[in-house]
Amino acid sequence: MSDDILSIIYTFSKKFSDPETNINFDPKNQNISAVVNEGNVTITLLVKGQTQDLYINIARLLKKNVEQISGVFSVNVIINSDIDRNKKTNTDDKKFKIDARNIIAIASGKGGVGKSTFSVNLATALHSLNLKIGLLDADIYGPSIPRMMGISKKPIMNENKKLIPLENYGLKLMSIGFILDSEAPTIWRGPMVMKALEQMFNGVEWGKLDYLIIDLPPGTGDAQLTLAQSSKLSGSIVISTPQDVAITDARKGINMFKKVNVGILGIVENMSYFMCDNCNQKHYIFSKDGVKKEAEKFNIPFLGEIPIDTNLRIQSDKGVPSLIDNPDGEISKKFISIAKNLNKSLS
Ligand SMILES: Nc1ncnc2c1ncn2[C@@H]1O[C@H](COP(=O)(O)OP(=O)(O)OP(=O)(O)O)[C@@H](O)[C@H]1O
Ligand SMILES: [Mg+2]
Repeated sequence: MSDDILSIIYTFSKKFSDPETNINFDPKNQNISAVVNEGNVTITLLVKGQTQDLYINIARLLKKNVEQISGVFSVNVIINSDIDRNKKTNTDDKKFKIDARNIIAIASGKGGVGKSTFSVNLATALHSLNLKIGLLDADIYGPSIPRMMGISKKPIMNENKKLIPLENYGLKLMSIGFILDSEAPTIWRGPMVMKALEQMFNGVEWGKLDYLIIDLPPGTGDAQLTLAQSSKLSGSIVISTPQDVAITDARKGINMFKKVNVGILGIVENMSYFMCDNCNQKHYIFSKDGVKKEAEKFNIPFLGEIPIDTNLRIQSDKGVPSLIDNPDGEISKKFISIAKNLNKSLS
């Protein structure tokens, strides 16, 4: 359903050409990205500050057209002109403070490709290497880490008016969902996103960490740009499934991080294949090696492939990470190998 809506959005958007480059706003254009989450659409236009006015009319028309699509409940068009400002930001003078050796953002262009699943399991795998780990759920559209980590209670404040992270399986955990009312807005403005994220850093008693893993919302919106500008990210990991539609969106994520000077630590292929219990063969449901080829093309590290695994999904829903459920299983081994390589490359 989301994919259908997405393709209709692009049939509208490609009628307009990008004032900056004269290229149509088709799915390949790096200056537009669209994310559909349960009928809520966020379209982001990345623009240079001085040309911002040229985009306002296009944004209005896009919003009007997309609102007419059946199945769409809300449309938010963000014109983002922060990139040039970001380039001037001093990397040592970031507003979001945390005592973490490394901060890693887990990103994807497309929704539903397994960012949260990856974040939980990478964090657990890093913890199994005797490292102090914080896991931050920054998905403003639908926080899912508390469920995947088997936590439902809300954090309390200490005497310094800072939130104490929750703990499970040895990990410290905070979710942007904890500070939102149950009626979270479906339309987020840049300053709201920034304020909520700032609270996740400066308003939380994280203590000393080796790694803070941040599970991002999908796409290339305000949360990504805010974190790139205001926190000292070590880099990002991009998750994609192997089919073209996911890779096209992953490419946008990669380009956005490049534009804001955040390094790509690597790309992971999730749902690479399904191992059939009956015939004992790998079935490449979403096509084969798509992400690996993309990594080669972009000259970024390919961190590994995670197969479709029924148990991973079931245990995720129950709030049990793979490494806790079955530490010696194939999936756990994959995550431990990714965690070890990552830790080596960042040490
Ligand atoms: N390798 C896998 N095998 C089986 N199921 C998976 C796998 N990876 C993810 N899933 C399942 O797919 C669904 C979507 O995964 P997840 O929530 O991690 O994606 P996401 O990218 O974080 O989504 P969103 O963009 O909505 O935040 C979940 O039900 C999850 O359990
Ligand atoms: Mg998620």
